[in-house]
Amino acid sequence: MQTIYEGKASIWFPSANEVFYNPVQEFNRDLTCAVLTEFARETLSLRGARVVVPGEKERVVVCLSDEKNGTKGEEASVPQEEEERKGACLRTASVGERCEEGLRVLEGLAASGLRSIRFALEVPGLKSVTANDCSAKAVALIARNTQHNGVSHLVQASQRDASMVMYEARGRNERYDVIDLDPYGSPSLFLDAAVQAVSEGGLLCVTCTDMAVMAGNNGETCYSKYGSVSIKSKYCHEMALRIILHSLDERANVYQRYVEPLLSVSVDFYIRVFVRVRTGQAKVKNSASKQALVYNCVGCGAFHLQRMGKSMCQGKHMKYSAATGPPVGVSCEHCGQRHQLGGPIWAEPIHNMEFVHKVLAAVSGNPSRFGTSKRIEGILSMITEELEDVPLYSTLDHLSSTLHCNTPSMLLFRSALLHAGYRVSLSHACKNAVKTDAPAGVLWDIMRCWEKNNPVKREKLSETSPSYRILSTEPVLQACFDIRADANPQSRKRHLTRFQENPQANWGPKARAKAGGGISTELEDRRKQFQGKRKCQISDSSQLKSFPCKKFRKGTCTYGEKCCYSHTPEKSPSPGDAAEG
Ligand SMILES: C[S@@+](CC[C@H](N)C(=O)[O-])C[C@H]1O[C@@H](n2cnc3c(N)ncnc32)[C@H](O)[C@@H]1O
Ligand SMILES: [Zn+2]
Ligand SMILES: [Zn+2]
Repeated sequence: MQTIYEGKASIWFPSANEVFYNPVQEFNRDLTCAVLTEFARETLSLRGARVVVPGEKERVVVCLSDEKNGTKGEEASVPQEEEERKGACLRTASVGERCEEGLRVLEGLAASGLRSIRFALEVPGLKSVTANDCSAKAVALIARNTQHNGVSHLVQASQRDASMVMYEARGRNERYDVIDLDPYGSPSLFLDAAVQAVSEGGLLCVTCTDMAVMAGNNGETCYSKYGSVSIKSKYCHEMALRIILHSLDERANVYQRYVEPLLSVSVDFYIRVFVRVRTGQAKVKNSASKQALVYNCVGCGAFHLQRMGKSMCQGKHMKYSAATGPPVGVSCEHCGQRHQLGGPIWAEPIHNMEFVHKVLAAVSGNPSRFGTSKRIEGILSMITEELEDVPLYSTLDHLSSTLHCNTPSMLLFRSALLHAGYRVSLSHACKNAVKTDAPAGVLWDIMRCWEKNNPVKREKLSETSPSYRILSTEPVLQACFDIRADANPQSRKRHLTRFQENPQANWGPKARAKAGGGISTELEDRRKQFQGKRKCQISDSSQLKSFPCKKFRKGTCTYGEKCCYSHTPEKSPSPGDAAEG
């Protein structure tokens, strides 16, 4: 046996790796605890209880009922204060306590029980947590770990097929407030049961690690699992989020239900979505118009969305009709090549910004609560900057590599877009993303203007290449590259941990635990073989100190001693673009 510590839990593992545990998913579990806490805070306030979150400053409040006795505070007219006063009169729910009006949680695929035990120890306002796994070894471990952590009054181990547990809980009174699905690979097998077994307005948390399928390597497999064709593209990570959201909504629709995304993240090698599920025959009629096909140009990567349906407001009523299209011609108007068809994908916002702001505020105000708080703060901050109403994105390196020209700096390119009157944001899902409401023609015009000052040798280009075609057209727009202050996003200015350096040398998806115990060694062996062989491996952020700071060299670094790169003038190896400190 070995013991692993994560969050407030200490978990026993058999030494032979018989039950799945992936330390890299600590972020996934931390984030889920943070989301669940906010969900509990909202839900319980409607049920007449108030959650107490460890580490959050308790405000001194006077109970409203005391006001009658003349103890009314001076600032009673401030509505927020008033709410807090009311809050003080509610029953309180603390972590580790069973709360009668609390959430009923199901973890369908619990392995060691780590996640469920962390919920019990770290999330206030729970009534029960069912930690289910079909493996006998896993369930024995869950039972031991539950005892060991002193949460037997909250966590029940269950050895069933996850789908059966959920199908049996479809009845209105048996449904779960929260269902967490964290499988190996695809969750698709469990979705039909999950959308039925979650309560009205309940929360579904779903992980997908089958990123090869979802990011376009096997579009046909993606269709069979999710009812949506993935395509290889620069925006494949956001597309993967929109594919699972499409699939969840479509399956919910069968039962007159629909989803409302709260938070959708693409991290490391997996994606994770948090959605509310609600019921409503009228609302479900909107679903077709929330989904879209994607036309992706194989030459220049320009993309267009085609909604699957149309809905219009007519007085008090909604009118539904077939969508009209297509949005593109037979060949791409920019480069003359053909389009691939992907989707349908979820084309509505993938986050609820109000909810994301709440989670972000709670985590950044209480950073010692989680091991990965810094990263949660970084990623959620970026998410709050994303343009909500603009699906997908281009990338700067794709635009320049298509033209075979130098890459403009992000600041220059974003400034040009802003000068031209468009909005632009980054995306948490991709480092060089340009998410903008500017049409592809404007992006190409800006690149054409950029190329005039950074010319490409025409004689090297084939006349049928996208580059040649695009550069043969004069720009309509005269791009202005004067740097604008608002072109630099806050999350970047504040140097937040937005993208992960590999947290340990051996990271990535873990091998599946072997049936009957033991772990498949094939993947591990391949890893060892390649470990350290790739150029410039950075496995720890402290290693960045051995690289020179580019900005310091240019005299523009403002981070002084706090900079994560070296300000020592001696020569050291250059990690390429990594050293923008
Ligand atoms: C990736 S692990 C879960 C990890 C866990 N959620 C965590 O955060 O540590 C997947 C687990 O699902 C279990 N499993 C696979 N198919 C199942 C099914 N149909 N019903 C229940 N459990 C299943 C496996 O035994 C395995 O322990
Ligand atoms: Zn094109
Ligand atoms: Zn620096």
